Amino acid sequence: MNSYSKSATLMQRGCDFLGSQYAILCGAMSWVSERNLVSAISNAGGFGVIACGAMTPDLLDGEIAGTKSLTDKPFGVNLITMHPQLFDLIDVCTQHGVGHVVLAGGIPPKGSVEAIKAGGAKVICFAPTLALAKKLLRSGADALVIEGMEAGGHIGPVSTSVLAQEMLPELAAEHLVFVAGGIGRGEAIAGYLEMGACGVQLGTRFACATESIAHPDFKKAFFRANSRDAITSVQLDPRLPVIPVRALRNKGTEAFTAKQREVMGSLDREEVAMAEAQLQIEHYWAGALRRAVIDGDVENGSLMAGQSVGMVKAEEPVADIIAQLMQECESALTRR
Ligand SMILES: Cc1cc2nc3c(=O)[nH]c(=O)nc-3n(C[C@H](O)[C@H](O)[C@H](O)COP(=O)(O)O)c2cc1C
Repeated sequence: MNSYSKSATLMQRGCDFLGSQYAILCGAMSWVSERNLVSAISNAGGFGVIACGAMTPDLLDGEIAGTKSLTDKPFGVNLITMHPQLFDLIDVCTQHGVGHVVLAGGIPPKGSVEAIKAGGAKVICFAPTLALAKKLLRSGADALVIEGMEAGGHIGPVSTSVLAQEMLPELAAEHLVFVAGGIGRGEAIAGYLEMGACGVQLGTRFACATESIAHPDFKKAFFRANSRDAITSVQLDPRLPVIPVRALRNKGTEAFTAKQREVMGSLDREEVAMAEAQLQIEHYWAGALRRAVIDGDVENGSLMAGQSVGMVKAEEPVADIIAQLMQECESALTRR
């Protein structure tokens, strides 16, 4: 870390909290963030996070064990709050002594933060607004991620630069805040660290690393894409609230519109309730992402990607990506 002394100083709180060499998280990406990528990130000094997604407790158990067999460095597990077996998944994390659990996909249900902490792990939550950030911290969150709409996957409505300006001056002195969304180079990391962030989270930049098991055609689609190709899904009907998803434009983008029409039809005919309709939409995304990441169907699957995809040009080992980010960050801080 000596060669990155200015960055190290600004990342110190984040590194102490994560137990990693650099305060750079690789955000959980469903199907992509499994044992190979997660262990590679942690072995390279970053902080890998397993994407539990829709996994059963048994599958998560196997994935954590597999990751442990590939690294002795700390890593985290990302759990989706609406998972019907959330508390069983928390138990699995506790049994493995996982140090950090990230709760994603909405407000943590009652008792979940307490259950994670009782098991000895630290809790990281996503904070979409300043008011909610304060509430999450009062409820026991140990650290926050603020993620702007430039990010890949499910997104909120506000950009990273605005969220950072709204939240960091209020929170960063006393709390641990990691910034995510649209980060492709180290100069941007330097900027957020100077504003008070204790670290950053990136997804898109790591999705096509050499160690990522994503299908070669998924990776090729990323290398070809420009920032403007990573577009957000549209909500067809105000009655069915769908969380926008950022992905590369393809036939799958149109298929999602058709899927919404189908689910709206079921709602109109009162065949399903709203909660079930929303779950159907989320299952659709999980399936579509799998088709692209695992099967390599880049036409019909979902190519979830952030706007920083334009800066992803070739397959590179995780260690090289992290070294490049740290060098850019350090040079930017040195030039100040
Ligand atoms: C392919 C893909 C899948 C993702 N899946 C998840 C997920 O399952 N859970 C989650 O909390 N975030 C997910 N994300 C968001 C990332 O964890 C991360 O926060 C985001 O990619 C950061 O922004 P960036 O893409 O601009 O770097 C996903 C992102 C991508 C690109």
